[in-house]
Amino acid sequence: MSETITITFDGRPLEARRGESLAAALTAHGVRVLRTTRTRSPRGLFCGMGVCQDCLVEVDGRPNQRACMIKVERPLVARSEAHLRPLPPAPVAAPPVEIGAMRVERPQVLVIGGGPGGLSAAIAAQQAGAHVVLLDERSQPGGQYYKQVALAGDYPPDAQHRDGAALIATAERVGVEIRPNVLVWGAFAPREFVASGAGGTVCFEPQVAIVATGAYERAWPVPGWTLPGVMTTGAAQTLWRTARRLPGRRILIAGNGPLNLQLAAELLSGGAEVVAVAEAAPAPQAGHWRQLLAMTVASPRLVADGLRYHWRRRQGGAAMLHGMIVSRIDPVESGLSVTLSSSDGAGSSRSFLVDTLCLGYGFEPSNEILRALGCGHDYDPERRQLVTRRDPYGRTDVPGVFALGDCTGLGGAKAALAEGAFAGFAAARDLGLARGASEEAHRRRLRRHRDFQRALWALYTAAPFNPALSEPETLICRCEEVTFGDIQEALAEGMTGIGSIKRRTRVGMGRCQGRYCAPVLEALLATRFGKSRDECSGFAPRAPVKPVAIEDMARLQP
Ligand SMILES: Cc1cc2nc3c(=O)[nH]c(=O)nc-3n(C[C@H](O)[C@H](O)[C@H](O)COP(=O)(O)OP(=O)(O)OC[C@H]3O[C@@H](n4cnc5c(N)ncnc54)[C@H](O)[C@@H]3O)c2cc1C
Ligand code: FES
Repeated sequence: MSETITITFDGRPLEARRGESLAAALTAHGVRVLRTTRTRSPRGLFCGMGVCQDCLVEVDGRPNQRACMIKVERPLVARSEAHLRPLPPAPVAAPPVEIGAMRVERPQVLVIGGGPGGLSAAIAAQQAGAHVVLLDERSQPGGQYYKQVALAGDYPPDAQHRDGAALIATAERVGVEIRPNVLVWGAFAPREFVASGAGGTVCFEPQVAIVATGAYERAWPVPGWTLPGVMTTGAAQTLWRTARRLPGRRILIAGNGPLNLQLAAELLSGGAEVVAVAEAAPAPQAGHWRQLLAMTVASPRLVADGLRYHWRRRQGGAAMLHGMIVSRIDPVESGLSVTLSSSDGAGSSRSFLVDTLCLGYGFEPSNEILRALGCGHDYDPERRQLVTRRDPYGRTDVPGVFALGDCTGLGGAKAALAEGAFAGFAAARDLGLARGASEEAHRRRLRRHRDFQRALWALYTAAPFNPALSEPETLICRCEEVTFGDIQEALAEGMTGIGSIKRRTRVGMGRCQGRYCAPVLEALLATRFGKSRDECSGFAPRAPVKPVAIEDMARLQP
């Protein structure tokens, strides 16, 4: 058992486990509503990874803290609804604030992101003789795939945790300077990065930068998608994999891709009731044998994992519903009423009463730092996402900037590992530190994992979000509470560009910086005006790429 710490939430004392996130502790005590919006709509844990900003609470007097990113390490006082309380009176004569010069650090290699890709690149570059600094906004390295159990005590890690722990230990052993809890919020050409964390705000000007910022999940904007109790598959998985907390008792998982199946197996093993896994793609057919064979050849271990998840799901009594999507979610006394419809619109619909709905319709690359630097991207119509232009070693078209892993277009953890080894070594070579290379093994591994991903996603091919699933009052932009009806009004006024619609409606201007609404709006405009997504400009990434307090921006010295 782990050590417990008493925290309070809105005056109520609650027992938390040392090391878990504030969101995990609150979820365990049944707290669903973490705040309300300007229109007083309730919001709760949604992305669980610091992207959506729906979980903002006040912690020890500091407003706007992400409950999913705050680690409980001491007793703390959390409150909801900071925005409804009056601001304290300003001091009559406030002392002037002096802002000194920003500290500048110039490491040889700066890696942004400590997931499998970033860690692997950092290890390769450091082993080749470079001095590497690795920044990650999370409290622990490992990224999404290698999230570690954050609790001290008797919580045995599984094989995925153990592989991650070994990778982190290697990075530490070879001398990579890992700095957790540091958010990179500014990126300026050619290679300037501004980051804030416990050490204050620092400008990094590395000789080489390696960007490995991963991806976040897509969740379709259907009626009810902002209700507390609706969260991404990754949010639920983070509760379980890092804190051994369940997101609810009676759970429906819906979306597209194998992560949903893995989550079902994990939650069942934790004692949850998973009623069903609704997969948007149709069931595999006999004609899919080529993909299944390619996957087995490329990675028998991942195929075995998949079979194990299916077996666990069946044992646990969770139905597998292929070709079904969530079409609406309604609040009911017992929790949520979730309606599933067939993805081709032909079959009949079904409803489930649950307390938690997990949504995971694939991933969007977190490429805002790369785009802010001016790195070129192309739209991949098959995966419906931007792909970073790179050479085989991960060099982007901006000199001295490498990119790898899921932020360049989803490739999975194993491909990120192999890409990292390539890019880290190439970065060191560009600095004149490494000569020659034993590249062939990495190249073969990368080829295998890319083959695996190609076959996997061919198996999971599903139709994109259909805007007909939304209603005029459905929110497209969670942050600014812009509805599909507002967008239709702007279109009826003759607006055609994403920029003019943004200025007219405020879509994409909120705290998440358009991460959830931009891909939906781009697809909607492309369909309406008969354009390809390549021709849609998208929202321009701007600093700060994630919200940062002015107090932190000005905190130049630790
Ligand atoms: C929520 C989620 C859960 C997943 N779970 C699984 C799973 O269980 N099984 C599976 O096979 N695949 C899973 N995947 C996919 C898999 O995790 C990825 O393919 C793999 O982790 C990619 O590795 P990466 O190094 O590219 O990125 P990631 O592992 O995502 O690592 C990126 C890192 O960058 C950091 N970062 C991002 N932006 C900044 C910034 N501005 N400043 C500082 N740090 C930053 C993040 O905190 C993160 O630690 C998941 C993906 C997501 C999004
Ligand atoms: S749930 Fe915390 S930022 Fe999304």
